[in-house]
Amino acid sequence: MGLRIATAGESHGPALVAILTGLPAGLVLDKDAIDADLRRRQAGYGRSPRQQIETDEVEVLAGLRHGRTLGTPLALVVRNRDHKNWTWGMSPWPPEGEPHGKGTKPVTLPRPGHADLAGVLKYGLDDVRDALERASARHTAVHVAAGAVAKALLAAIDVELEGSVVDEDRLHRRVDEARAERDTVGGVVEVRATGVPPGLGSYAAKDDRLDARLAAAVMGIQAVKGVEIGDGFALADRRGSEAHDEIRTDRRRDTNRAGGIEAGVSNGEQIVVRAAMKPLPTLMKPLASVDLQTGDAAQALVERSDVAAVEALAVVAEAAVAWELARAAKEKFGGDALGDLVAAWRAYLERIQWR
Ligand SMILES: Cc1cc2nc3c(=O)[nH]c(=O)nc-3n(C[C@H](O)[C@H](O)[C@H](O)COP(=O)(O)O)c2cc1C
Repeated sequence: MGLRIATAGESHGPALVAILTGLPAGLVLDKDAIDADLRRRQAGYGRSPRQQIETDEVEVLAGLRHGRTLGTPLALVVRNRDHKNWTWGMSPWPPEGEPHGKGTKPVTLPRPGHADLAGVLKYGLDDVRDALERASARHTAVHVAAGAVAKALLAAIDVELEGSVVDEDRLHRRVDEARAERDTVGGVVEVRATGVPPGLGSYAAKDDRLDARLAAAVMGIQAVKGVEIGDGFALADRRGSEAHDEIRTDRRRDTNRAGGIEAGVSNGEQIVVRAAMKPLPTLMKPLASVDLQTGDAAQALVERSDVAAVEALAVVAEAAVAWELARAAKEKFGGDALGDLVAAWRAYLERIQWR
């Protein structure tokens, strides 16, 4: 069975939830490791005090016993601690009593660059909040928890991942400048996966291609507007002789311009995925918009928001790449028990004589 994930949860609702199916039995999970990734997502230069309010932590409702997966659906929960201020505004049922706390007034001023306008039009909503609550990147928290589970699976076959910001010093300077001018910035992140064996993904069909799958997984994250694998866009300007990675007799390469993937298949070199993040759309100095209630020209909604979330994106992108690689590894090696998967991986490396 393939790995699958379904998530639910609003930004200020009671909790974010994820159900992961297709995990093998016998995978050891470490709560501290999952929580450490959740904290990494919340940290970073340019983030707002909301991140301190939350201090995310994973809860497991099903699929795990004494720290080992059972091979049954794994149910993860990350509570929104800030929900206590939104119990009336985000009540799942018609709220009782006088309005109190946050989210009691309808939002009618859509922010350019957010889900606000497209969301109300598409779903026939009167309150922009009904769109923005799910469109918000808050639910990346539960994807990071799922990514930590995927990383545990990948560690069993010696695959390691690391997400980072490309040019962190420059990002910090840009955040400082933008903060002073009450503006926002984006940036570029990179995920590197080491130890991926050759042969994950396939050229047999376009939706089997590992590069296509990784691009979709990373583009699926809020605010990501560009994805490249290896030297990506820069390859377009090069000659073929300077664009490809020569093959040595041991079948390894001295260069890695392809970013570890050729013809949609991993080639055994490090997988390198880069993502470009646009500046956050919630602005303290808002852009022009329309009041959806009156039809008048207005300024977009102003809400407390981060200056940048690029470091957070590095963690979220790492989780997305981990999930997709774990899914591809499960496809290739199968196994209801983790031991079966590891045995299949060892036998495969033996067959291709890969060191
Ligand atoms: C980790 C992370 C944190 C984000 N935080 C904010 C934020 O604080 N304020 C904001 O306006 N947008 C934030 N965004 C971006 C919006 O969620 C995103 O721009 C919006 O949902 C519209 O989707 P799109 O940019 O993919 O078109 C964040 C994105 C990520 C990945």
